[in-house]
Amino acid sequence: MARKKFICGNWKMYRTAAEAGALAREVRAAAEPFADKVDVAIVPPFTALWAAGAELKGSRIGLGAQDVFWETQGAFTGEVSAPMLVDAGCRYVLAGHSERRQFFGDTDEAVRKKTRAALAAGLHPIVCVGETLPERESGRTLDVVGLQISAALSGLSAGEIERITVAYEPVWAIGTGKTATSAQAQEVHAALRAILRQLAPAAADTIRILYGGSVKPDNAAELLSQPDVDGALVGGASLKALDFTGIIQGATR
Ligand code: PGA
Repeated sequence: MARKKFICGNWKMYRTAAEAGALAREVRAAAEPFADKVDVAIVPPFTALWAAGAELKGSRIGLGAQDVFWETQGAFTGEVSAPMLVDAGCRYVLAGHSERRQFFGDTDEAVRKKTRAALAAGLHPIVCVGETLPERESGRTLDVVGLQISAALSGLSAGEIERITVAYEPVWAIGTGKTATSAQAQEVHAALRAILRQLAPAAADTIRILYGGSVKPDNAAELLSQPDVDGALVGGASLKALDFTGIIQGATR
């Protein structure tokens, strides 16, 4: 089953609104020629969503947010809801990025609620899972990511699960310059797909599973050549239009 590759740039806590607008314009110009072959999205910080979205209007480059709260509105100081993200022009939202889990205490249960809220608002959640270095070294990688994905998707219908994207991001590879080998990535992606097949048999072959963790132009093509690696969630390299485009090109091979 051929899945269209998906390259998503997570800008993390970088770029002002003006800078984000400029970068979005560059990404649009560079990425649009590949839009038939590759889906592309950028994920700026909340404060830059409008500015980046304005530059993407009428294009096929998607906009996403980095996090979401599960209530639709209320007295929740500091939080942003899924309908608000839709209002800001988002199509995607990350749920359970390892930095949220590590630094802000996002639990599997929180990731589940965020995923549900995103789906309820019509967003496409990108559910992130990944093991730490001690977990990998003690041979627990598949158990850890299996539990994370099962928890995030528990209670969802097959029709809802169909609308998600999964991102496998080994924590030890994020921002470290260390990438999983393509064989390591493929092993985990295949295991994730097997779990998806149990949860949503009809959708398992269409759901995209992205790899994230130090993806660069020079390693993208090799990672993306694996049968179950359907795209990339790119951090650092997504902040440079040239590098990001190099990765998109890697997805066309
Ligand atoms: P990185 O980040 O590409 O800078 O390693 C990936 C991510 O956190 O999504």
